[in-house]
Amino acid sequence: MLATLWLLSLSLPTLWAYTLISCAYKSLCQQALVSGNDVVLQCDYPKAFWYFSSVLGEEPLLLSSMPHIKKLPGGSLQLTNPQPSQTGLYHCQDNDSALVVEYEIDFQDVSTLHITHKDLGQKPLQNETLGLSGHVLIFTRWEPWQDCNRCGEPGERKRLGYCYIEEHLEKPMPCWLYLRTKKARYSRMRPELQVEACLVPCNHVKEIDQPYFIFDIYQLGKLTNNVWLTCPLASIYR
Ligand SMILES: *[C@@H]1O[C@H](CO)[C@@H](O)[C@H](O)[C@H]1NC(C)=O
Ligand SMILES: *[C@@H]1O[C@H](CO)[C@@H](O)[C@H](O)[C@H]1NC(C)=O
Repeated sequence: MLATLWLLSLSLPTLWAYTLISCAYKSLCQQALVSGNDVVLQCDYPKAFWYFSSVLGEEPLLLSSMPHIKKLPGGSLQLTNPQPSQTGLYHCQDNDSALVVEYEIDFQDVSTLHITHKDLGQKPLQNETLGLSGHVLIFTRWEPWQDCNRCGEPGERKRLGYCYIEEHLEKPMPCWLYLRTKKARYSRMRPELQVEACLVPCNHVKEIDQPYFIFDIYQLGKLTNNVWLTCPLASIYR
């Protein structure tokens, strides 16, 4: 197989690739994210201890160095390629066992992402009611649209949506944090990605300020009829 690969990367402070999740001091923040995309959970306490308990409610586990989980020098926790099984409570405490910050994170399965293009008439998932204990509404909570991928010519932009469940008059919760040990699983329970066309003027200052770029070129061999491309440091959140 004749294949060539070039990879160029410029000025790569590693943390650029990670999306930072933060929460106010001594608070609990609940958040839905997409699995497989790196994140850092912020805890500004260098001697921090991190505990994790999954939605199954077992004893909190002290997180030390594990593959894919790393405590950063400032105290924050770096999760590389997080999986849906890592959904649960992340608790950061100081050396006197006092709470610094807590995160309840729902890593929704990226492999079930429902992708639609607005301008091709494709419809996002509809709201559904489920007959669990009483009626609950299952819906998608959308993030704002991301930046257009081109300027001065037609481009596209995307936004992410997460599966949420709302019980009558209660605050909506990310689906898997709501269901916890309940065995119920519904086909509606999926994160979403929506794409639409955009046309924005160029802002050259902004382009020059981009922190880094990466490209690779891959030449297919004669015998290869498919190839899996990975884009190092890419993230669905940008
Ligand atoms: C925790 O750290 C602080 C500041 O470094 C120190 O004063 C305190 O004695 C420590 N507490 C324990 C239980 O180690
Ligand atoms: C779906 O439910 C959410 C949450 O109650 C609501 O904000 C949204 O407007 C609903 N969408 C439709 C199409 O009814």
